[in-house]
Amino acid sequence: MFIPCVRPGIAHTARQLRHALQCRSFAEQSGGSESTRVALVQGASRGLGLEFVKQLLDKPDHRVVATCRNPDGAAELQELQGRSSGRLDIVQLDCTDEGSIAEAASQVSGSHRHLDLLLNVAGILHIPGKMSPETALSRVTADSLLTNFQINAMGPILVSKRFASLLAKASEGSSASRDRPAVIANLSARVGSISDNSLGGWYSYRASKTAQNQLSKCMAIEFARRKQNIAVVMLHPGTVDTDLSEPFQKNVKPEKLFAKERAVKQLLDIIEGVTMETNGSYLAWDGQSIPF
Ligand SMILES: NC(=O)c1ccc[n+]([C@@H]2O[C@H](COP(=O)([O-])OP(=O)(O)OC[C@H]3O[C@@H](n4cnc5c(N)ncnc54)[C@H](OP(=O)(O)O)[C@@H]3O)[C@@H](O)[C@H]2O)c1
Repeated sequence: MFIPCVRPGIAHTARQLRHALQCRSFAEQSGGSESTRVALVQGASRGLGLEFVKQLLDKPDHRVVATCRNPDGAAELQELQGRSSGRLDIVQLDCTDEGSIAEAASQVSGSHRHLDLLLNVAGILHIPGKMSPETALSRVTADSLLTNFQINAMGPILVSKRFASLLAKASEGSSASRDRPAVIANLSARVGSISDNSLGGWYSYRASKTAQNQLSKCMAIEFARRKQNIAVVMLHPGTVDTDLSEPFQKNVKPEKLFAKERAVKQLLDIIEGVTMETNGSYLAWDGQSIPF
């Protein structure tokens, strides 16, 4: 059992000390068992990410790592952690900062022997008061393109890069097989499909999700070529009632606007059925393939 040590004589931050205690609590309770399924939700402070954490914690054989930009400000995550009997770790990670991703990966490797599920959920469509999706070519800016690409496309691939070795440990051990591989599930969006694009607009968001799909597909092919039981899927959750969609909901029919609880349940059911045969798929909330 690996328990990250707090070295005597070295100044540690409150966050490092808190993390060491969390890890010890996890290791003491789980014994680091390979039968425990470990899921990491990247972008877990609110919206779909927070709901994924809640529903994964409802599965008794799961331990969950929730990452977010500002753990101290994530009150709902902290509250969940208090009720999780040591099954939830909260780790700082900003997906636009490769140093922070590397630090998070090293922390998680210290407390978990393998990872069965990596969910890349963090994403933006707008930033209140600063940035809206472009409705016309004239509104496209370098800033909107860069910000969308940084969070929606670069985030998931850089996070996957740093956590791939932990997923590989599930693949090498007894907890993953071709029929039940370790999974990287990236939250994409139907608007990232080029062949499905009949309306135009939302240039940066659409293109960043298209780029995310291409990067994910490359990763899926590489894992298969290396004969690793790690499957990558890109998921469209439907239009879900969260902060991200809130300004754009007025033209959405009520029956087409999903509650977070429903959307996450549907996506977890899809993830549960992923095999190496479906590696590289781009899937909607109802399990249907979306054309790239
Ligand atoms: N809601 C929908 O209708 C819908 C439809 C299609 C696809 N999606 C996709 O589903 C995913 C989740 O969306 P949502 O509706 O849950 O959005 P949301 O409620 O707006 O939540 C976005 C999450 O992303 C995090 N985030 C933003 N920038 C980050 C960064 N640099 N590093 C780490 N985390 C960051 C936010 O953290 P902070 O709290 O720190 O800001 C927040 O936890 C997104 O990828 C989105 O594109 C959503």
